[in-house]
Amino acid sequence: MKCLITGAAGFVGTNLSLRLLENGHEVIGADSLSRRGSERNLSELTNQYPDFRFEQKEIEDIPAFIFKNSPQIVYHFAAQVAVTTSVTNPVRDFDINARGTFNVAHAANQIGVPVIYTSTNKVYGDNVNHVPITELEKRYDFDGELHGKGISESFPIDSFHHTPYGCSKLVGDIYVREFGGVVNRCSCMYGPNQFGISDQGWLAYFAVKMLLKQPITIFGDGKQVRDALHAEDVSRLLEMQGIRLLDNSKPSIQGNVFNIGGGYKNTISLLELCDRWNIKPSFSEWRSADQKVFYCDISKAERVLGWKPQVGLDQGLENLLQWAEASKKFNF
Ligand SMILES: NC(=O)c1ccc[n+]([C@@H]2O[C@H](COP(=O)([O-])OP(=O)(O)OC[C@H]3O[C@@H](n4cnc5c(N)ncnc54)[C@H](O)[C@@H]3O)[C@@H](O)[C@H]2O)c1
Repeated sequence: MKCLITGAAGFVGTNLSLRLLENGHEVIGADSLSRRGSERNLSELTNQYPDFRFEQKEIEDIPAFIFKNSPQIVYHFAAQVAVTTSVTNPVRDFDINARGTFNVAHAANQIGVPVIYTSTNKVYGDNVNHVPITELEKRYDFDGELHGKGISESFPIDSFHHTPYGCSKLVGDIYVREFGGVVNRCSCMYGPNQFGISDQGWLAYFAVKMLLKQPITIFGDGKQVRDALHAEDVSRLLEMQGIRLLDNSKPSIQGNVFNIGGGYKNTISLLELCDRWNIKPSFSEWRSADQKVFYCDISKAERVLGWKPQVGLDQGLENLLQWAEASKKFNF
């Protein structure tokens, strides 16, 4: 495949680029390098793969970059990624995530190229908080029919309290499908090359803070649950989707949406992670519109694509710790 990746020096972009390059695909990357750690990821990519082509680009310049390079697939990951920032600066959040994604999807569509997009569980907004839950000692869990099963793609998106990030990502989500792309609504992804901050990428953030023996604050009571998906499983999925989009012998997946996460087996709460790593956190107020429980029903991805996570939490968190130990000097 000839792939163009936006946000190529970010966490998901770097892991996918490494995988695609390893497997002999052509990769052209673009990134504004605005995320801390992205320059570090970029040097890893260019050192390991001299064939990796990269240009520093702002989101506004990416449509012209698509026209210039004529890829077969566009992976669109460049984004304003933090809910907190979307609340303090919703205008820039809109420009990058909503307008930016529209422009990327529109440009790709003009040359007949499908886009694979990473949307978010935040598109389900506050509706998720209306699902009945149970409160256990260290975690919340869904109660009733969603217990152990999770949120599927047919869950309603028409609430308010999405957060500006949820809204801007949802705009992108709808346009990408409108123009014949594929949307992955991702919950919590983690792994190497993730320069987590307190606003985003919590597993990597906790790992580095713990290794540096620095304090960690939990917003809320720490019983929030997420289904964690390791970068290796994310990259495998994204490569499969690209290959599938170019394979005319199989039913098309254009216009599809997939809920993507670790599934119930790979759920973990903040308190459970703290116990596992012997972290003694302090606590602060809940963040607005935080979801108490979110885990995905990933059965559609398995049914349609034959994909399911292979890296369990024990193995994945061990791998994250190894990377964080080696990289903590770059991190904070
Ligand atoms: N990490 C997760 O758990 C998670 C969960 C749900 C959805 N997502 C989505 O997945 C995608 C990738 O997330 P990630 O974790 O790799 O984030 P990341 O911040 O590591 O990567 C995003 C990259 O985009 C670049 N970027 C930011 N603003 C830009 C702009 N204006 N122009 C060009 N490039 C810009 C950054 O420099 C960064 O390298 C994002 O679209 C995010 O919304 C991530």
